[in-house]
Amino acid sequence: MKNKSLVSINDFTKDDYLRILELAKEFEKDPNQNLLDGKVVASLFFEPSTRTKLSFDTAINRLGGRIIGFSDASSSSTSKGESLKDTIMTVANYADLIVMRHPLEGSARLASEVSQVPIINAGDGANQHPTQTLLDLYSIQKTQGTLENLNIFLVGDLKYGRTVHSLLIAMSEFNATFNFVSPPELRIPDEYKQFLDNKGLKYYEHTDFEGIMHNADIVYMTRVQRERFSDPMEYEKVKNVYVLKRDMLEGTKDNMKILHPLPRVNEISEDVDTSDQAYYFPQALNGVYARQAIIASILGLK
Ligand code: CP
Repeated sequence: MKNKSLVSINDFTKDDYLRILELAKEFEKDPNQNLLDGKVVASLFFEPSTRTKLSFDTAINRLGGRIIGFSDASSSSTSKGESLKDTIMTVANYADLIVMRHPLEGSARLASEVSQVPIINAGDGANQHPTQTLLDLYSIQKTQGTLENLNIFLVGDLKYGRTVHSLLIAMSEFNATFNFVSPPELRIPDEYKQFLDNKGLKYYEHTDFEGIMHNADIVYMTRVQRERFSDPMEYEKVKNVYVLKRDMLEGTKDNMKILHPLPRVNEISEDVDTSDQAYYFPQALNGVYARQAIIASILGLK
């Protein structure tokens, strides 16, 4: 993992995931460690973020590192027409590591190809969000005691939801069964079904949400990604198609947990927040430990 960029969840192996999760556990027990003393991390957010940006910032601060960067591309020379390649080739001179979120699919791969320092993909368009996946794996392992043989329900925008794409690939290493719940317009892309077929893994597709969660271990809710729709009317048609309500939790398994990468819009009603199954805010905290583990691994500090 040392000096390797994390662009896609495929860049890491199952052993890499497990090593990161072990390290995340260590950071959860002891978060303040001066491993990044003297190091500079560039944080380039060309797209809005709350959790990813601030949990990376927290992780870097807790590791004693320094941060440069921007959270609004309009304050960078991108607004003057500078290319992503030139931006990365410049910033790589200043920092030991670059964390980047960008609206274009493939942008993180391009950045990794021109950068002399490792790139961590903090989300590239509708493609991938691998650091979210590692914190999701950590959250699943913590709540279930295992990653193996789980029944995972992925609900909502399975077409544009990059967190779903990365999570599916990672959980395929642990013999998961997948239930895809989406309106027809936001179905999981065929390439992911083909991927599961090739691995011989079971999956089911649903359009109705109510009354199907009785055997779920994890219900992973997602927001309909308004920013990825070219036609606002198409968004209006599907934006509130699934709303998880408190009474829908009756009859679910005791171990079942609800995850959501957040931000939430309407897809989980607020009365679910106080249920034993709600885990999305602890999940967001796990992002700090997982990102500490990722940074420490990539920079060879652990
Ligand atoms: N989960 C996630 O990526 O949230 P933000 O968009 O707030 O970073």
